[in-house]
Amino acid sequence: MEKMKSGFPKNFLWGGATGATQYEGGFNEGGRGKSNYDYICSIPNARKKGIRHIGELDYKTYCYNKKNENKLYFPYRRATDFYHHYKEDIAMIAEMGFKVFRMSISWSRIFPTGEEMEPNREGLQFYHNVFDELHKYNIEPLVTMTHYELPAALVEKYNGWQSSKLIELFLKYSNTLIDEYKDKVKYWITFNEINALICHPFTSGGFFIEKTGKNYFSAIYQALHHQYVASALTVKYLHETAPNCLIGSMIARLECYPYTCKPKDVAATLLEDQINFFSFDIMARGEYPKRMYRYFEEQDIHIEYVEGYENILKNNTVDFLALSYYMSYVVSDDEDKREEPGYLVKKLKNPNIPMTDWGWGIDPEGLRITLNRTYDRYKLPIFVVENGLGTYDKFVDGKIHDNYRIEYLKKHIEKLKEAIDNGVEVLGYTTWGCIDCVSATYGEMEKRYGFVYVDADNEGKGTYNRYHKDSFYWYKKVIASNGEDLD
Ligand code: BG6
Repeated sequence: MEKMKSGFPKNFLWGGATGATQYEGGFNEGGRGKSNYDYICSIPNARKKGIRHIGELDYKTYCYNKKNENKLYFPYRRATDFYHHYKEDIAMIAEMGFKVFRMSISWSRIFPTGEEMEPNREGLQFYHNVFDELHKYNIEPLVTMTHYELPAALVEKYNGWQSSKLIELFLKYSNTLIDEYKDKVKYWITFNEINALICHPFTSGGFFIEKTGKNYFSAIYQALHHQYVASALTVKYLHETAPNCLIGSMIARLECYPYTCKPKDVAATLLEDQINFFSFDIMARGEYPKRMYRYFEEQDIHIEYVEGYENILKNNTVDFLALSYYMSYVVSDDEDKREEPGYLVKKLKNPNIPMTDWGWGIDPEGLRITLNRTYDRYKLPIFVVENGLGTYDKFVDGKIHDNYRIEYLKKHIEKLKEAIDNGVEVLGYTTWGCIDCVSATYGEMEKRYGFVYVDADNEGKGTYNRYHKDSFYWYKKVIASNGEDLD
């Protein structure tokens, strides 16, 4: 028998990932409107205070932040200022040899309040400039239409994705993007980590639970339902108007293991997994799984379904699956060990794997397991669009020696290769925050992921100059050798 081919395919898309709210900045320039993230203010020592996510605002806090706009610090407004640094940043990723660059478009830069009849031409032009710059270096853009962002006006007027009106408004936006950029952008993702809405109603869905008059999960699954329909109708439009492009759905994939081999723990893990795969089931298979309808009954979850949604979902499934992978976690059936509802990540730690400084379980083997399981389940190409180590870097004399990041990525790339050797079709790999971004959960700068250091601190002080980290040169070698040279 002929020897099986091993290693990364020749056209493998190596690169890095960013998202507008955490990276782009320029919040009050070029006609951009305010977004949900523009009202998230920094909270010093949030983690020590036990806050899970500084962005999960209730309505009262949102109003307070808005009223005190001139007194508070809003880290996402300038973010790491791609808006003014895009040429320099793109030159740096080109130097690393990137084949693909994942970025998102800011909805409020294109439709400042979400309800204009015509898009903001200056906003559209900004992304034309970015895509042209990428193509100058033969870098393929991979565009997320919305990465945890929506115009603040839609938060205030409709309570965000709680309203079915958002479907129509999102379609106006997504269709505009497709019309405008279909010759410059081949790879698209509709929603960043769509399943994250289960734990982030405000940042992922722009709504306040207390204003819905519903129980937590009814509100969550209602908003998700609207996003699934909006996504499927976007897929339809892209397939009809830009058949050369590919569109995917994305989830935060969390590999979960049973706490013990007790059948009850295994069954609880299975349910956790079904919930984690739920969005892929809908967007790749085109239907709500029966198990989830049952789950809705068990949990007293009520959804007002959009008329005709079954056919919309069935006829408009995605071309590829995109996932972020950072960690695995442990699931138990034991009531006492359970996390309160509304969080994807259980507190149960796995004693067999190390943790990052932010308590995320480092588990490269979990990436291979996830890729194999996802591919076995859907048989669709997979794009690993986020992975990486968020941690402190020391900036000394213009240098950053981040061998810990190299170690982390090396181990994950080895497992990625193993999955490919196992037959999983992987389109590409984009590490998160390839140029340092503001952290999504805490609005900090000190949790860094990049190959490029951005000189800014948690309070937004600094030159915003860019510096190569040691991992920059390492990743350059990885890409040049198509994943063969990992040392
Ligand atoms: C992913 C998000 O869940 O995790 C990114 O898509 C985010 O937006 C990343 O930045 C890492 O999270 P954090 O909180 O470390 O920035």
